[in-house]
Amino acid sequence: MDAIADLRATYLDQIARASYPDALEAVRLAALGKKGEISLKMRELGRMTPEERKIAGPALNALKDEIDAALKARRAALEDAALEERLRGEWLDVSLPGRPRPRGTVHPVSQVMEELTAIFADMGFSVAEGPQVETDWHNFDALNIPPEHPARQEHDTFFMHRSEGDNRPPHVLRTHTSPVQIRAMQDQGAPLRVIAPGRVYRMDMDQTHTPMFHQVEGLAVDRDISMANLKWTLEEFCRAFFEVDEVELRFRASHFPFTEPSAEVDIRCSWEGGQLKIGEGDDWMEILGSGMVHPKVLEAGGIDPTRWQGFAFGLGIDRIAMLKYGIPDLRAFFESDLRWLRHYGFSALSVPNLHAGLSG
Ligand code: DAH
Repeated sequence: MDAIADLRATYLDQIARASYPDALEAVRLAALGKKGEISLKMRELGRMTPEERKIAGPALNALKDEIDAALKARRAALEDAALEERLRGEWLDVSLPGRPRPRGTVHPVSQVMEELTAIFADMGFSVAEGPQVETDWHNFDALNIPPEHPARQEHDTFFMHRSEGDNRPPHVLRTHTSPVQIRAMQDQGAPLRVIAPGRVYRMDMDQTHTPMFHQVEGLAVDRDISMANLKWTLEEFCRAFFEVDEVELRFRASHFPFTEPSAEVDIRCSWEGGQLKIGEGDDWMEILGSGMVHPKVLEAGGIDPTRWQGFAFGLGIDRIAMLKYGIPDLRAFFESDLRWLRHYGFSALSVPNLHAGLSG
């Protein structure tokens, strides 16, 4: 009987001292495992006399139950302690304010490009693109501006450097988006409706000019296209873009080598109190150049001018962004001043569309 009392004392002590689950499991195996000390003792019952067994049997069973219960209680205590420990470690103050993350804004030029793309897409125009380093053929010759033409001088062109002996055709930084007309005609043929927003470059710098600025070109080629279609398209565009019901456009006869006839377009506005309002007042502001595509330009684009006509226009994006959003100085557009960007920038999460409001 002393042996059983010893076993009891030993294992209860070991269980009490086991301080993590693996140690407790080792104690269980040593006592109650297949080859555990108590299990072996129970196997010995078979070799005892019936009298001996009558006493040892119940005592061993009681010991086994007691050790089993002690193991279970200790395991539960260890698990509780582990949970307590985790809860203490993973404690989280949900009432703390979040850490601020810097949030960028969409530049007004990008915003306006998105807006005008949405408007023209609604009228069936898709977006075409061309390279910013352009051949002088696409930029000038194909647009009916031959080498000696005075318009070449007016464009203040940046030419790409060529080392002596480099006989590749001359390239320029495109001075307007009009060369994309040629590329679109060559790629897509007629009929076609495209706009081409993008960067253009001229050697010019003052309050209203920067050496890089943005234009959007428009081109529609089809049968029976006329100036009336051009006028309607531009009026629709201005109404949607400036978000006013009444806009009045004035077409002034003008001259561009790539259109015949050509017109510059002014929009009625007022400058009362230094504030610009579109659609009312007695002032006119020039916003774009346009006209019927010159037959030579259609030909350069691979389109037969006896079967197709087209209208085209070119609009200054920075200009209309300044008008719509009341931004006074063009140069600030490209200075990357964070205060300016935060003030005039737009939320990246609201994508302009015609139904939710363009600048929502
Ligand atoms: N490319 C002209 C410029 O940069 C703008 C222009 C005028 C484009 C008439 C056109 C157009 O497509 O028809 O000044």
